[in-house]
Amino acid sequence: MIRLPDEEDVQYAKKQLVEKKKLAAIIGAVLILAVVFFTTDLVNYFNIITQSTNKPELCPLYEPLAPESYLKDNSTLFTILNDEKFRLQSVQKLAKAIQVDTQIGDDQPDVDDAPELWIQFQDFHKYLEDTFPVIYENLEVEYVNTYGLVYTWKGSNTALKPLLLTAHQDVVPVQKDTLDDWTYPPFEGHYDGKFIYGRGSSDCKNVLVGILESIELLISKGYTPSRTVIAAFGFDEESSGRRGAYNIGKHLEKKWGKDSIYAILDEGPGLQKDPVTGQIIAAAATGEKGYTDVIVELTTPGGHSSVPPDHTSIGIMSELAYIIERDPYSPIFTDQNPLLKYLQCLAVNSDKVPTLTKKAILRAGFDKFANGKVVEVISRRAETKYLIRTSQAIDIVKGGEKANALPENVKLTVNHRISVETSSDEIHDHFTSRVIEVAKRHGLGVVSFGKKVFAGDGKSGVFVVSSSQSLESAPVSPSNDTVWKYLAATTRHVFEDAVFTNLTYPIIVAPVVMPANTDTRHYWNLTRNIYRYSPFFSVDLIKDSHIHSVDERLRVDAHLQLIAFFYEYIQNIDTSESDN
Ligand SMILES: *[C@@H]1O[C@H](CO)[C@@H](O)[C@H](O)[C@H]1NC(C)=O
Ligand SMILES: *[C@@H]1O[C@H](CO)[C@@H](O)[C@H](O)[C@H]1NC(C)=O
Ligand SMILES: *[C@@H]1O[C@H](CO)[C@@H](O)[C@H](O)[C@H]1NC(C)=O
Ligand SMILES: *[C@@H]1O[C@H](CO)[C@@H](O)[C@H](O)[C@H]1NC(C)=O
Ligand SMILES: [Zn+2]
Repeated sequence: MIRLPDEEDVQYAKKQLVEKKKLAAIIGAVLILAVVFFTTDLVNYFNIITQSTNKPELCPLYEPLAPESYLKDNSTLFTILNDEKFRLQSVQKLAKAIQVDTQIGDDQPDVDDAPELWIQFQDFHKYLEDTFPVIYENLEVEYVNTYGLVYTWKGSNTALKPLLLTAHQDVVPVQKDTLDDWTYPPFEGHYDGKFIYGRGSSDCKNVLVGILESIELLISKGYTPSRTVIAAFGFDEESSGRRGAYNIGKHLEKKWGKDSIYAILDEGPGLQKDPVTGQIIAAAATGEKGYTDVIVELTTPGGHSSVPPDHTSIGIMSELAYIIERDPYSPIFTDQNPLLKYLQCLAVNSDKVPTLTKKAILRAGFDKFANGKVVEVISRRAETKYLIRTSQAIDIVKGGEKANALPENVKLTVNHRISVETSSDEIHDHFTSRVIEVAKRHGLGVVSFGKKVFAGDGKSGVFVVSSSQSLESAPVSPSNDTVWKYLAATTRHVFEDAVFTNLTYPIIVAPVVMPANTDTRHYWNLTRNIYRYSPFFSVDLIKDSHIHSVDERLRVDAHLQLIAFFYEYIQNIDTSESDN
């Protein structure tokens, strides 16, 4: 029998329908959510939010390490840092170094070809002999290419690789028209109770004098090292070190061999207040960006300017310049860049980094979205923007002779500081492609690095692209080995035990990348462990020291901290535990 549906059945069916609709709605909502989640940034944010911040292994903190002599009697370290007599002696030594004017120009001929241009270094050597007699009595002194200085303090254990401490004797020129702007004359070495003023006071006669003072002090305390200590000072760092450090590097490689050095400490960053955390962070540069000057020359037929072509060579070159500037290099941020580890060190060790930022940083090495977020933040600040991208600066343009003659020859020089992930070849190729783009519009030929890469019409003219100077980015020094551990542990000891005795947090020691190059470019063969590191504290190094500028100066407290660091470091690494 077929039963007709009654009221109950109808109600039941209706209920079922409502339930089904509800279910469908829920499924629909979930689906929509899923679509939104996976096609928008939600999933990316979710990944960041759920990232663990408990990753101490990414950047271990090494406990402060004090040498035996300090544990027996800590007075020498505190004398260096706090004793008025020691301070004034130190000031004298540095002031006298500043008084010897060792300015050098760009591209000076070699010493033998133009001795008169380098004569000031004789005076500087005389100053060193007069000021550091103990050094000259106890260390072997070698002269490399006449003015390069290599001091060797022989250690008793030849199984230990020598430590190499470096700085440069030369200073950048003082521009004549700025002389009136200096508060104290640039070669007086004036001391106002806090600062020493003068060219070279912070770049970097302070490092040179500090190295010698610390060794002299160790000798006077009767210290005899197991590990050989070498101090080497070039004399044209401000002009790429071709005469000084280049020859010193060759000399040391010949004398000691490839990979023969324990570590190199050269001028570089030190301790600063980190703007994000407000905490004191020690930063040692473990890498340097690359460098290339690209020169492009355009030659076109000349003629009278009463019957000009639509575009003169200057006009065409301007078009190229416009294209270059319209197309800056994009940021690139990978784990090849020491800056990533710097941020990781802060993220895992500082409680002052906001949690979400921490999480994004910890994913930035492998998660494209998180990487983009971090890149955004780094790119916002002018000081950090170029740590993660190649810079290009059109620095020289030359062309044109006369108002009524067409310019036949125009030359443009573009300086690049190359990101650590990029090679100079890539920069040259990219540059050439821009030149070809312009050449095509004007029927011009292009010769790039000796190769004809675009033919042109054979009559309009030709671009020639070349480079005067190129340097690949430096091999990145380890920041996870024993050598690094001793560097970090000594830093913490000096600055936590003696300089800032009431810090409420550990000093994080982290690697960074330098956008500029030092003499160490010539020392790559000597060791992988190259640190551009001048551990002294300044709230803001550039603002505090006016490097390369008017009123260059150095806080004397900072100078004393550097001496204290070298004094403890040389002792701390004087064992085989600190690695051979
Ligand atoms: C330095 O040594 C003195 C004497 O042994 C001691 O009283 C003082 O606490 C030490 N200072 C530090 C910072 O360890
Ligand atoms: C240090 O890091 C490098 C590069 O990531 C790695 O190859 C090496 O094994 C690490 N060394 C130590 C001692 O952890
Ligand atoms: C250490 O304590 C003194 C006195 O409380 C304070 O003035 C100073 O700023 C502190 N130094 C640091 C580095 O925190
Ligand atoms: C480093 O060693 C390589 C290979 O032996 C050599 O070609 C190069 O000239 C050396 N670099 C320096 C700066 O001496
Ligand atoms: Zn320098």
